[in-house]
Amino acid sequence: PQVIVCADEASASRKVADMIVAAVNAKPSVVLGLATGGTPVKTYANIVEDFRAGKVDFRNVTSFNLDEYIGLSGTHPQSFRHFMELQLFNHINIDPSKTFVPEGCGDDPAAHAAEFEKRIADAGGIDLQLLGIGHNGHIAFNEPGSSADSRTRVVGLTQSTIEKNARFFDSEDEVPKTAITMGIGTILEAKQIVLLATGTGKAEAIRLSLQASPSDDVPASWLAKHPQVTFVLDEAAASELA
Ligand code: F6R
Repeated sequence: PQVIVCADEASASRKVADMIVAAVNAKPSVVLGLATGGTPVKTYANIVEDFRAGKVDFRNVTSFNLDEYIGLSGTHPQSFRHFMELQLFNHINIDPSKTFVPEGCGDDPAAHAAEFEKRIADAGGIDLQLLGIGHNGHIAFNEPGSSADSRTRVVGLTQSTIEKNARFFDSEDEVPKTAITMGIGTILEAKQIVLLATGTGKAEAIRLSLQASPSDDVPASWLAKHPQVTFVLDEAAASELA
């Protein structure tokens, strides 16, 4: 992977926003893969600023999000659909009918997962996929043990992920224990991948992803198999790289 180390979180977030805006400007009908969580919040704010400044137009863009909690409807305040609307979709001119977030509340999540994969294929595949990384090396909700050929599916969350994500909920008990997530195989089919990581809490996961041989133990290590991956890091997230 290409590794770009920025001085701080603000410049790393700006760098990723620039890459996404450039992708939309190069191909107005680009298919974006998007992530939630704390990490991309500033990147989305930068994109909204660029949109308001007239630097980018999302009317022909399609987006697919990585994951969603099982059991939360899209209007639940902690759902990833709601997060995307609040952080990005409501502030730009993307067509809501072209924004796809897996649905956590349907009757048949397995059928929905297969349909989500088909939608991505029908859209021509993902051109640019944005990723964060978990402290345990997860990408999307592919926890340790996820194989390189895994597809969109229902997964269990590890106790450590539930504890980390409890900060977004009133209590740990409210964090769903399962999620629907794109698989590693789904993610690796994106034409270009950008992983953003900031803060010392991610330093070990970043070191293992870039320096350990690819294995199920560190799902992000599978990214080394992809020809067009960029890790955008702040100095803190890069601090354990030799
Ligand atoms: C979010 C996602 C997760 C997060 C990861 C890091 O859609 O798929 O893999 O990217 O858990 O989360 P934050 O950014 O909150 O540290």
